[in-house]
Amino acid sequence: MPTIDDLFAAAANARAKAYAPYSHFSVGAAILGADGAIHAGCNIENAAYPEGTCAEAGAIAHMVMAGVTGLVEIAVVGGPSGAAEILCPPCGGCRQKLREFGGLSAKVHLRDTDGAIRTLTVEALLPVSFGPEHL
Ligand code: THU
Repeated sequence: MPTIDDLFAAAANARAKAYAPYSHFSVGAAILGADGAIHAGCNIENAAYPEGTCAEAGAIAHMVMAGVTGLVEIAVVGGPSGAAEILCPPCGGCRQKLREFGGLSAKVHLRDTDGAIRTLTVEALLPVSFGPEHL
């Protein structure tokens, strides 16, 4: 079973592939899926700015394409392209995406500038949220 270190390594590899010519901010994300495998993604920007996609969305797309809809944990790393990481909390839209597949208990691992790992649940990042059970 992959460890948190494995997830961060996969997220860092994904970050190196980011296509971020507009923001120059590269993000990588790596999900531990319910299948026990890692599914990674990077941010992919577009000249039509709103069409850009976040790293978390790319990782979720890879997970779903692998036939998995259960997200157990995710590691997210980011920072100015070509420079050291800074703490990169998921944007609001991504918090909702994580809630869809991870529920309230999924763990979100972030890495601070000094390398310290901060772990939060989806519920902590998105309290009083709307989810599949509402429909
Ligand atoms: N970004 C992500 O990939 N994930 C987030 O949760 C925060 C923001 C990307 C989007 C855009 O390509 C760049 O970071 C700057 O906002």
